[in-house]
This record gives sequence, C-alpha cells and structure tokens, in this order.
Amino acid sequence: MNILLTGARGFVGARIAAAMPVIAAPSLRNMTEDGVKRLVDETEPEAIIHTAAISDIPTCEKDPDASYFANVLLPVWLAKTGVKAVLFSTDQVYGGCKSEGPYAENETAPANTYARHKLEMEKRVLEINPHAVLLRATWMYDMPLYGTANRGNFLVHMLLKQEAAFSAAQHRAVTYAREVAQWTQRALSLPGGSYNFGSENSLTMLETAHWLKERLYLPITLRDAGPRPHLWMNCGKAKSQGIQFRHTADGLEQCIRDYDLDLR
Ligand SMILES: NC(=O)c1ccc[n+]([C@@H]2O[C@H](COP(=O)([O-])OP(=O)(O)OC[C@H]3O[C@@H](n4cnc5c(N)ncnc54)[C@H](OP(=O)(O)O)[C@@H]3O)[C@@H](O)[C@H]2O)c1
Repeated sequence: MNILLTGARGFVGARIAAAMPVIAAPSLRNMTEDGVKRLVDETEPEAIIHTAAISDIPTCEKDPDASYFANVLLPVWLAKTGVKAVLFSTDQVYGGCKSEGPYAENETAPANTYARHKLEMEKRVLEINPHAVLLRATWMYDMPLYGTANRGNFLVHMLLKQEAAFSAAQHRAVTYAREVAQWTQRALSLPGGSYNFGSENSLTMLETAHWLKERLYLPITLRDAGPRPHLWMNCGKAKSQGIQFRHTADGLEQCIRDYDLDLR
C-alpha cells in the first residue's frame, strides 16, 4: 500500500517510518492548501498518516495562530483531498473533564489551546471525510533514535534526571512509541471516527514513576507535583476493533527488554 507519511522525521513519525514502508512527505511548514493538494496529487497515496503538528502545549499557548495553522488547517487540507487518512490527536482533549475517568471518546473537555485545536481538527476532518481515523495518543516514550531529534519523554527523564515531580493524584497512561507505530498500520483499516489509542494504566503518574524507579534501581528522587488533570482513557472502542495495547507497566517492560535496559 502506498502510504504518505507527514512528520516522518518527528518523534512518532520516525518510528512509524521504521515500522512500515512509507513515502515521507516534505515538511508541511508554510505549505498552502494548493501545495498540500499538489503533494497528494503527485504522490497518489492510497492512504495518509498525518503526524506533523505543533505538539508542545506552551508553544501553542504562546502562538495560537501557528498552532491553528499546524494543528487545524493542515489536517483539514489533507482531509479535503478525500484520501483515507489516519491523523494523530491527543489525550489532552480530556484535560478539563470533571469526573475521575477513565474517559470514553465522547467525554471531551479540552482545557488548553493545543487540545482545543486538536478537537476542532477532529470535528472538521470528520465532517469533510467521515472515513478519517483520529487517534488520541497518550504521552509516548522511547529511547533516542539515531538521526532524529531527541524529544524529552517519560522514560528518558527517568533515566537521566536526578529528580523529577509527577502527580500523585493524576491518572494517565504513558505508551511505548514503538507499539504506537506498530498499531498505526492496523488503524488504517478502522472505520472512520475518533479513537483513544494507547496503553491503559491503573496507577497514578507518581506511582508509575516509582514503579519504574524500583524496576531499574534508578537513582532519581521523585516528588509529588500536586494536583493535575486526569488524562485517563478508556480504550475499549479500539479494543473492540482488535487494537489492544499493553498496559503501561507491560509496555515499559517490553521497552526494557528491547533496549536491554535492565543492567543489574
Ligand atoms: N509525543 C507525544 O508524546 C504525543 C502525545 C500525544 C499526542 N501526540 C501527537 O502525535 C503526533 C506526533 O507527535 P510527535 O511527538 O511526533 O511530534 P513532533 O516530533 O513534535 O513533531 C512532528 C513533526 O511535526 C512537524 N512540525 C513541527 N512544527 C510544525 C509546524 N509549525 N507546521 C507544520 N509541521 C510542523 C515537524 O516535521 P517537519 O520537520 O517535517 O516539518 C515534526 O518533525 C502529533 O499530532 C502530536 O500532537 C504526541
């Protein structure tokens, strides 16, 4: 299958490119709607996987116009081409939910610019192309990958930092980015709609950090970061379609095995 991948040099995109054959799109920064259409006309993909985005929350807060361009307009223009598309969204769309969770796909309450733009993107893309698949990803981790920018993530923080703060009250999952890359191929055959897409986790973030500290005998000092919004997803909808991620601790175990991180 001829798959056009955006953001192929990004954190998730690079791992998707390593997991399946794709055509890497050029950077979409500053691209016009005509440019996006031309790119799709020239590459004639059977499907598009769209990972390019501004995914840093403070950057979106500081520059909402840039966030709107990258996180709403670009995906809308891709959807308008009519090609089957899988597009990444975020668990941040649940950041303003008042209940404990875990949250199903219809319980959204975005609480920052990034999340508001991602949710608007999901709605507009589905209006244009009801066959599109929107994947709400959790915070993802992996070891650095040679030749790509080294994005900070939970695992790397835990391995490198002397101290870190995570919330003892926050329920959220972290997911192994390589597992996300593997399931993304399967997501191409999902019926159109939004899906919670990642590991589930019954531990709080601080408990998860303590688990990893003890598992790898890490010297890090952990503190409670205080209250944080739950970002806890119920992934039953994806599971009903055969997409079942490892739980967070099992995903971390897999990553520890893959990289031989257990040095005791
Ligand atoms: N990383 C996470 O933990 C996480 C968690 C939840 C959801 N997500 C979502 O998953 C997707 C992939 O995330 P990621 O961590 O791989 O992102 P990333 O590495 O920060 O960025 C992916 C790519 O986006 C492109 N990009 C950056 N700024 C841009 C701009 N202003 N305009 C257009 N394109 C721009 C860049 O590609 P070029 O260099 O080719 O321009 C970059 O390599 C995103 O949709 C993100 O919102 C990520």
